[in-house]
Amino acid sequence: MVPRSMQTGSADAALAEALFEPADLGDWSLPTRIAMAPMSRYKCPDGVPHPAVAEYYRRRAEGGVGLIITEATYIDHPTAPSYEHVPNFFGETALAGWAYVRKAVQGAGASIFPQLWHTGSFRQSWMGPVKGISGVGPSANTNAFTNHAEPTKAMSDREIAEIVDAYARAAADAQRLGFDGVEIHGAHGYLIDEFFWERTNRRTDRFGGNRRERTRFAVEIVREIRNRVGSDFPLSFRFSQWKQQDYKVRLAETPTQLADILEPLVEAGVSILHASTRRFWEPEFPDEADLTLAGWTKKLTGLPVIMVGGAGLDRPGLKEAMPASLDVLARPLERGDFDVLAVGRALLADPEWALKARQGRISECRPYTKELLKRLD
Ligand SMILES: Cc1cc2nc3c(=O)[nH]c(=O)nc-3n(C[C@H](O)[C@H](O)[C@H](O)COP(=O)(O)O)c2cc1C
Repeated sequence: MVPRSMQTGSADAALAEALFEPADLGDWSLPTRIAMAPMSRYKCPDGVPHPAVAEYYRRRAEGGVGLIITEATYIDHPTAPSYEHVPNFFGETALAGWAYVRKAVQGAGASIFPQLWHTGSFRQSWMGPVKGISGVGPSANTNAFTNHAEPTKAMSDREIAEIVDAYARAAADAQRLGFDGVEIHGAHGYLIDEFFWERTNRRTDRFGGNRRERTRFAVEIVREIRNRVGSDFPLSFRFSQWKQQDYKVRLAETPTQLADILEPLVEAGVSILHASTRRFWEPEFPDEADLTLAGWTKKLTGLPVIMVGGAGLDRPGLKEAMPASLDVLARPLERGDFDVLAVGRALLADPEWALKARQGRISECRPYTKELLKRLD
């Protein structure tokens, strides 16, 4: 069998051409159906995105990306940060930096959403720009799943209200600064996902319980954002079955269980769902149908869906991957599983990935290696 990495060519060009059609997403649209997946780059030592960050995103916008979803950015709460050199989405200087990034990306013809982040019980008191504050999660000691030594504090009602407000302020700031929408990071085992996951949410109040009840924290965030930004501002919600703590974990074993998580989010006012997987083409519930997670998300909610995971590369993971054919896109595309395809590492490696894919030149794209994470080119 010829490896996927060697098969790129005219079939890929035909598939990529379909991605270059404008995405019609109901009340709004994108110039192409390709999004840049959110990727933390840890290049903002003072929490401020500097002009080099704007240039990095602008190059991808010029390269045919229709929507830039920025690296995760911290909301304004002392418990939100874990890692250093992550940009903030609060404070005058950081927001001025983001306004500059927004202008650069839109000037190149793409739309841009900031991704809003609270790292939950990944935080340890010695981590992040402000030391001495414990990590918080839905329940105490959820750090058993993060391999960290310090216990995590269960969030009080006051902390929940403060954090809901911090998300909403960030979304309102994004709207005021001229961003095209926002994305909430509700995936990968961070704070919002910890509320979804029964192993990390053992609360007995209204934020715990069955799957629908465990969505309440996310629902309150979405509702409060809607109160501040109105009904039309695009609001993407990223969710995942997998967790940083465990790639094999699943929030939903059946489509009905998936609906229990997604329906409350839709009712609360989410306008786009971003189904984060590591291999987008895999059937999510193989006993039911060969639909992908994105396909199920679309079928169950009817909302515009972003699909992601492994586009243009031959393996998942953070270390290295070679360019690979887009052939696996054919079925999900034909079936209408998704509206927008998010591309992560392939675009990090090569800002012209989209244009090269359109020309059937994927095999000429720069391979992805973890060495590239040191640079912002
Ligand atoms: C360096 C790196 C940083 C990432 N940072 C984020 C992030 O900040 N927020 C997020 O939701 N996902 C993050 N991800 C996951 C990506 O958005 C994407 O889902 C994943 O890389 C799979 O897509 P790909 O195979 O096209 O790279 C990151 C991935 C990488 C490789």
